[in-house]
Amino acid sequence: MPEPLLSIEGLTKTFHVAKSASGNTRLKALDGISLTVGRGETLGLVGESGCGKSTLARTLMMLETPDEGTVSFEGTNPFGLKGKELLAWRRRVQMVFQDPFASLNARMSAGDIIAEPWATHRSLYPSSRERDERVKELLQMVGLRASDARKSPQEFSGGQRQRIGIARALALKPDVIILDEPVSALDLSVQAQVLNLLNELQKELGVSYIFISHDLTVVRHVADRVAVMYLGRIIETGETEEVFDHPRHPYTAALMSASPKLDVSGAKRDRIVLQGELPSPLDPPSGCHFRTRCWKAQDICAEVAPEPQVLTAPDGRRHLAECHFPLDTIKGLTGAAAAASTANAL
Ligand SMILES: Nc1ncnc2c1ncn2[C@@H]1O[C@H](COP(=O)(O)OP(=O)(O)OP(=O)(O)O)[C@@H](O)[C@H]1O
Ligand code: SF4
Ligand SMILES: [Mg+2]
Repeated sequence: MPEPLLSIEGLTKTFHVAKSASGNTRLKALDGISLTVGRGETLGLVGESGCGKSTLARTLMMLETPDEGTVSFEGTNPFGLKGKELLAWRRRVQMVFQDPFASLNARMSAGDIIAEPWATHRSLYPSSRERDERVKELLQMVGLRASDARKSPQEFSGGQRQRIGIARALALKPDVIILDEPVSALDLSVQAQVLNLLNELQKELGVSYIFISHDLTVVRHVADRVAVMYLGRIIETGETEEVFDHPRHPYTAALMSASPKLDVSGAKRDRIVLQGELPSPLDPPSGCHFRTRCWKAQDICAEVAPEPQVLTAPDGRRHLAECHFPLDTIKGLTGAAAAASTANAL
């Protein structure tokens, strides 16, 4: 297996917030995240609202400083860099935000928005003629016209604005682009166009994506590998097909079962209805954070946090899940749903 482009090991991030009911003020948004991203691959990041997806993205963008853990980008830890080296590193990871209306400055032209990152990375295109040419190229690369450079963001549709956001992210020739819910604000037909564009750009440029989304159908479509988050932890990760076809963590199984469009085989999957609310990240359950909603929980789950373990499917494919009692791949989701409903009825 080739050396990953980006390796994250044990990343932890705590926010200090107003006191919770139990008197706690430390909210652990990231609780020991370990992940890798390969060159040219798309890693899908999924999980309920508040599980820490954007905090992970912001930490990788160096907008947040982690309490613990390391990030290694081809062997370099960016949090140890200063001055020119830090600037050079910042170029390599860029981000596209969810809301194409709020994320573009209405007072600037599309051309100026795309060229803005070069103000801090002057050496990339030193002359204004080079910058103008590159803006035109980038606009065309994302399916807009060179003449669109003069227009302001209000003159574009939502999908076109997201294309401008993608062009801006590409301006610094990054190795990794973090896409935080990049299509969820767009109409379905426009979503497909933007996803196709991202796919084509990846093939052409070899860029890696970290694709954050609530929409599992989209993630299944775009991601090579997927990581599932729950209350600040990665609870399951592996190749997309493997995780979607044979989820081993009960939470992943519940997420997948709630999205019937996912089943490409046409087989009927029963819905797993999770009991209880998502616990507050200020007071997560002891041991396994998922135990208060898990139909398989036993005493050990409250006492010992499960370590990630490698699980092998009957076809030999492997992935990681953090669970003391991972689901059986043979029974699959229908078996899991039956067990969940029996446990919930007790
Ligand atoms: N700057 C901050 N100060 C205090 N708490 C924060 C801060 N940023 C995030 N949090 C908290 O950290 C947790 C994770 O938030 P985050 O925005 O990363 O979640 P998310 O998975 O991106 O959610 P969503 O799907 O809704 O975008 C939440 O409980 C959130 O309230
Ligand atoms: S460790 Fe226990 S509580 Fe957590 S997911 Fe596995 S079975 Fe459920
Ligand atoms: Mg978010």
